[in-house]
Amino acid sequence: MKPRVLKIAKLPPMLDEALHATYEVIEAHQDGTGVNAATADIRALVANGESTVTRQLLDKLPALEIIAVLGVGYDGVDVAAARDRGIQVTHTPDVLTDDVADFAMALLLGIARNTRVADRFTRSGAWANGPFAFSRKVSGARLGIIGLGRIGKAIARRAEAFDMSIAYTGRHPQAVDHAYFSSAAELAAAVDFLVVAVGGGAGTYHLVDEQVLEALGPQGYLINVGRGSVVDEQALARALAEGRIAGAALDVYENEPRPHADLLGLENVLLTPHMASATLDTRRAMSDLVMENLRAWQGRTALPTPVPE
Ligand code: NAP
Ligand code: 8YV
Repeated sequence: MKPRVLKIAKLPPMLDEALHATYEVIEAHQDGTGVNAATADIRALVANGESTVTRQLLDKLPALEIIAVLGVGYDGVDVAAARDRGIQVTHTPDVLTDDVADFAMALLLGIARNTRVADRFTRSGAWANGPFAFSRKVSGARLGIIGLGRIGKAIARRAEAFDMSIAYTGRHPQAVDHAYFSSAAELAAAVDFLVVAVGGGAGTYHLVDEQVLEALGPQGYLINVGRGSVVDEQALARALAEGRIAGAALDVYENEPRPHADLLGLENVLLTPHMASATLDTRRAMSDLVMENLRAWQGRTALPTPVPE
């Protein structure tokens, strides 16, 4: 008989296939609703970066031994509750770093050069009435990164090729050549493009608030590839509508899959559906890593990528 795993996320087809080949897969909603007594013998849970795994959900899974997250971010998982129960948690760092950094640059270039509106302008025939409005130069501009981790550093490396000056904020200064600011507001005041590459959770909730947007100013752009919860989306929509910042490009939202309604009608915002790591190659690598973690758990060997806590 195949061991049973509980899946509480929409997963890439290759991971679904691999899971079904090895396990009996039981499905429940992303927030764990639908989990019932029939899952009392489940020892493994597969989630993604958007899943919510609460202490209450863990209480319904008394035999659980491992939570394998498809994604590097695991802010939806109550890791302390898992630790209390001796449940191991794994994630998929590194294999997605390049894609997310590439996509951050795509968003940055897209909003600065206004490619979304330019595409519509070209298709509509409006071009016949005159040229498209000037956009903003990226090369040589000042970049600020909130969260200089694996992805933040990969963004910095790409930005260096654009001759951008690079500054960052984080909880601690690092041994790097970039300028350090101890707060997001100070960083925002010093840059043209502010990129969020930090994870979610209580420590970063609304780190980008009204004050940070004010500091970024009417010439400044915000790009978010980290987590939606890091940005006060209501404050952002107001700042964009009132021209208090120049523009924003967002891949993640406070309430996915529904970006704040006030953002939807604005021209100075570029919106993508949480897709920064969603290339075929990277989804394969992430899926393989989830399976490697599950195999290691079953074989009682060291897990390849446990979360750091
Ligand atoms: P990482 O290597 O752990 O980097 C996170 C960085 O954030 C660290 O350098 C950390 O530096 C900094 N940080 C932590 N708390 C902070 C705070 N309160 N204020 C400022 N900086 C803080 O993680 P990663 O692999 O780069 O991934 C980062 C995040 O990207 C993930 O957690 C996930 O949310 C997001 N992500 C999004 C997508 C997408 O599809 N859009 C895909 C992958 C990942 P200090 O310790 O010095 O503070
Ligand atoms: C994924 C992510 O899109 O790794 C993360 O933290 O947000 C993304 O890579 C997600 O976890 C899979 O749905």
